[in-house]
Amino acid sequence: MAGFPVPLIVVGNEKGGSGKTTVAIHFVAGLLASGLRVGAIDLDHRQRSFSHFFANRAQWAERQKRDFPLPRLVTIAPSERETKSLAEGEEAARLARVISELSEETDVIVVDCPGADTALGRAAHSTASVIVTPLNDSFVDFDLLAGVDPETYEAKAPSIYAEFVWESRKRHMIEKRKTIDWLVVRNRVSSTETRNQRRVSEALTKLSQRIGFRLAPGLSERVIYRELFPKGLTVLDLIEGKTKGITMAQVAARQEVRGLIAALRLPQLTRVLAAS
Ligand SMILES: Nc1ncnc2c1ncn2[C@@H]1O[C@H](COP(=O)(O)OP(=O)(O)OP(=O)(O)O)[C@@H](O)[C@H]1O
Ligand SMILES: [Mg+2]
Repeated sequence: MAGFPVPLIVVGNEKGGSGKTTVAIHFVAGLLASGLRVGAIDLDHRQRSFSHFFANRAQWAERQKRDFPLPRLVTIAPSERETKSLAEGEEAARLARVISELSEETDVIVVDCPGADTALGRAAHSTASVIVTPLNDSFVDFDLLAGVDPETYEAKAPSIYAEFVWESRKRHMIEKRKTIDWLVVRNRVSSTETRNQRRVSEALTKLSQRIGFRLAPGLSERVIYRELFPKGLTVLDLIEGKTKGITMAQVAARQEVRGLIAALRLPQLTRVLAAS
């Protein structure tokens, strides 16, 4: 794989609790289940939920004497250099080094960003091949992308985060002659759509055309997306290869996760599926 550009999937937004780590975990688990070698970079040095998930997975595998595939995981700590600009430079260099090392031994890399504006998060966004932004189905989360008119619910000016993604894409195009794909994922969608959720959904569709992101099929609100965390498993591990004892809800969850992974449109994945 040396010299070949490995897709870098950066899961980020600057809003806490919107589902970044959940989405990132399911990407990694799904890509591993497809037979790809996956690199995982945890930029949330304080919470480390992404890293803890894979530590739980390794421990559970050992306890169960089973073989659950693992990514090559790296947690990047913030720099302790004395000035902000020195620290930011060192962090960007650390991230570039880790990406370069992981590219030698993996087919795809997934990055989990913290829910805040950090230098590491910014550096990851600007080198991404795909930026994935999970949003809960509410105007509070929509505000992360743009404000809305209180009467018509039409989107107003793009937010700081949307402007930042736009700038990253522009710079990437100028410097590397490559586009950054931007995928927005509705998360925690409830099974019964309220009028408010319909408004959010319509506003997102319109905004996607205006500021140039794709809308991925979302993840519903499901306990299965969080209850397996202590074991480091996902619904895909649970039912892969099994037919007995599977609930309809688990089958539906698996379909959602697969739909989300397919929305990444990774050429690597197409090759693996074609070969299998
Ligand atoms: N689709 C879902 N169904 C059920 N629970 C969910 C879903 N998505 C996320 N959650 C739960 O919501 C909480 C926040 O999710 P998560 O930690 O993935 O968000 P985050 O964006 O990574 O947060 P932070 O910004 O703090 O890193 C967690 O308890 C998680 O299990
Ligand atoms: Mg997180």
